[in-house]
Amino acid sequence: MEPLQYNGGMQLTFDVPLAPLTTMRLGGNAKAFCVLTTEDDLTQAVAWAQENNLPMFMLGGGSNIIMGDGGFEGLVMKNEIMGFDLQSQGAGVRDQGLDEGQVSITVGAGEIWDSFVERTVALGLTGVEALSLIPGTVGATPVQNVGAYGQEVSQTIVELKAYDTKRDEFVVLSSNDCEFGYRDSRFKEREHGRFFITSVTFTLHKGQLQPPYYKALEQYMAEHNIADYSPASVRAAVIAVRQSKLPDPTEVANTGSFFKNPIVSATMFEDIKQNYPEAPGWPLDDGTVKIPAGWLLETAGYKGYKHNNGMGMYEKHALVMVNYSASSFADLAEFKDEVCSKVQDMFGVMLAVEPEIIR
Ligand code: EPU
Repeated sequence: MEPLQYNGGMQLTFDVPLAPLTTMRLGGNAKAFCVLTTEDDLTQAVAWAQENNLPMFMLGGGSNIIMGDGGFEGLVMKNEIMGFDLQSQGAGVRDQGLDEGQVSITVGAGEIWDSFVERTVALGLTGVEALSLIPGTVGATPVQNVGAYGQEVSQTIVELKAYDTKRDEFVVLSSNDCEFGYRDSRFKEREHGRFFITSVTFTLHKGQLQPPYYKALEQYMAEHNIADYSPASVRAAVIAVRQSKLPDPTEVANTGSFFKNPIVSATMFEDIKQNYPEAPGWPLDDGTVKIPAGWLLETAGYKGYKHNNGMGMYEKHALVMVNYSASSFADLAEFKDEVCSKVQDMFGVMLAVEPEIIR
């Protein structure tokens, strides 16, 4: 099919390889593809897909999705809708329902997440600094409720704007409406594909991160004799810690943590402790225990493991699955199944995949 050009400049192309647009760099082609730079582009793209009876999928930075080998038999829309609208700062904030020193920023969903974090840190704002260096776009962060080093985006998101394909109109969803959970929201599975996020509004504060601090962060600060937890110090520390153990997706194909940290019953955790007295676990309020999947995988021998099909686990962090030289999603699936069976056999724990798999 010939490229189709719309009034606003949005162009549709066909049979587009998706692997280069994702950080795992696997999977097939999109039947149709376009880049969105405005909400109007989105409205046009949705209308075109509906006319042609095609399913739609919105792509951000491609750093938390993995495409199957069949690609996507529909329209993939790459979100490049930009914007950084700082609504209130300093005097007069109370009129806008904000406290002194509180700032509300509406950010285009296509903005690069870490550039946004960098700008807020430069303004001396706290709220997202511990989420430094996380790959991907702003619009992708609510989907999996991105979290690291003690912060989660759900703590600072006040609302977001999205196109609701069920009602065929733009809607504003409050943080409550997003139904956030640990690495989860209504967008991830329950209503996957219903909403296309176009902007996200965050409330941030002048100030600094408050204790209790995440262990790895506290350790780094102590080792480097840094006493203040200002947004700039925390950002620098998080960048250093992440760079020391997580692969840069532009160099090594990966999607960050590949599995969620499993939550098991207290009895099950005791059973694991019988065989592995050193097993780490964080007791949760409801009596269950969250176990670091990285520990399970390292103990199962996967840290730095390389499968002969080109997949493996990163040498410095066992939770990060890496595509060293695999050529298909089938290779990833084969390796994932092997890892899950081994962990299940050893610990009785079924691991759940963290990134979104599109197939
Ligand atoms: N561990 C090991 N071996 C490993 C890796 C980890 O034994 O190879 C154990 C250690 O006991 C360590 C513990 O796992 O203390 C926790 O590891 P880490 O602090 O690296 O955190 P994580 O639970 O593995 C989570 C997020 C990361 C986030 C970090 C830092 C999930 C699924 N992952 O990882 O998020 O950066 O905390 O806060 O919750 C991502 O989502 O892509 C991601 C990288």
